[in-house]
Amino acid sequence: YGTSRVNENNSLEIGGVDTLHLVSKYGSPLYVYDVALIRERARGFKETFEKMGVSAQVAYASKAFSSVAMIQLVEEEGLSLDVVSAGELYTAIAAGFPRERIHFHGNNKSIEEIQMALREDIGCIVVDNFSELYLLEEICRDLDKTAKILLRVTPGIEAHTHDYILTGQEDSKFGFDLMNGQAEEALMHSLQSDSYEVLGIHCHIGSQIFETTGFILAARKIIEQMKKWYKELNYQPKVLNLGGGFGIRYTEEDDPLPASVYVEKIVTEVKEQIDSSELDMPEIWIEPGRSLVGDAGTTLYKLGSVKEVPNIRKYLAIDGGMSDNIRPALYDAKYEAVIANRPLDKPEETVSIAGKCCESGDMLIWDLPLPKAERGEILAVFCTGAYGYSMANNYNRIPRPAVVFVENGEEQLVIERESLEDLIKHDKPLKQKVTK
Ligand code: LLP
Repeated sequence: YGTSRVNENNSLEIGGVDTLHLVSKYGSPLYVYDVALIRERARGFKETFEKMGVSAQVAYASKAFSSVAMIQLVEEEGLSLDVVSAGELYTAIAAGFPRERIHFHGNNKSIEEIQMALREDIGCIVVDNFSELYLLEEICRDLDKTAKILLRVTPGIEAHTHDYILTGQEDSKFGFDLMNGQAEEALMHSLQSDSYEVLGIHCHIGSQIFETTGFILAARKIIEQMKKWYKELNYQPKVLNLGGGFGIRYTEEDDPLPASVYVEKIVTEVKEQIDSSELDMPEIWIEPGRSLVGDAGTTLYKLGSVKEVPNIRKYLAIDGGMSDNIRPALYDAKYEAVIANRPLDKPEETVSIAGKCCESGDMLIWDLPLPKAERGEILAVFCTGAYGYSMANNYNRIPRPAVVFVENGEEQLVIERESLEDLIKHDKPLKQKVTK
């Protein structure tokens, strides 16, 4: 992947930096991001849109991995930003990200979050449901602001992915239903409101999607409605946001398309549909998370205990697990890994990589072919850049690992490792018993 290679010391190097050096300097577990690869992915999306001659915004879905440095990198690459909470918005603002390129998502934005978004004059708010549509309007009036909005619609598409990350189907907690008139009702309401400038329509059909069919069907269904709205309401959206969800290759089993192909196919379809109508070509916005950072991240762990169950299995334990990568436990996600201090050594046995959390489900990788490895060696697990750190937690009171960026032979600590003191920072001791 990217700039990963085996160097002259026969160890894994990323961004020109030896991973063993990183572990000795910053400890383990450690998330390492290949910055050049993130830039390459970002440019890939932008260039594809440019090549196709459509106005576009590529918004990084910061839920995949948000930190001040990451957001600054996104700004350097000229992308927009999707945030879904006060925390992600705060991070973006702290990173100095241009407000007008921030898009605010979520199915249950709080009053405080909406106020914050309006006060910061961010680029747009993606309205998810009727109760939010009315609430936002009220808050706009209170603050004497108008909001640029997109209406999130649910096009009734079942994308082929894991059930938990499927979002575009009819029975979903997200969005206005496109086919039963909800979306139209929301649109009519917004168009009549003084508080709103309706930029357009948004939909997101799911995540880790390998085919373009779902996106194409969603685009078709939306454009069909757009034609109707143009006739009946004399309104046409300036923006059509088709969300994120482009799949990446975690293991050999995954067969995603190159990111540019998703964009090409989607844009071609939209163009065709629009050309055969009276509508003007809208701006196409997308919001990839995983496909921008997923394969740029690698987690380095130190190997510890070994347990053999004779004739059945050998468990090799790492110094992290579901606290830094919950995806295997939550989605049965698969990963590939190598021994970072000798990645080219031939596999000699099949082992299963166990996390250190007190839970049998905390298994990072089942049945991984590896050379015979020992306590103290370094395991590098690939493709952990999306939804790894961002879903990390303190289960078993394990501190969150540090994050380093590597590029052109240089490393940079971008998130410090949590300390034990950090873990009890918000704890309050038990009240003293009053003794008479
Ligand atoms: N836009 C919206 C409205 C979303 O809900 C999401 C992801 C994205 C964009 C970015 O999707 P991506 O390009 O990253 O697939 N925790 C899960 C993934 C949940 C995705 C939630 N929404 C995982 O670890 O696989």
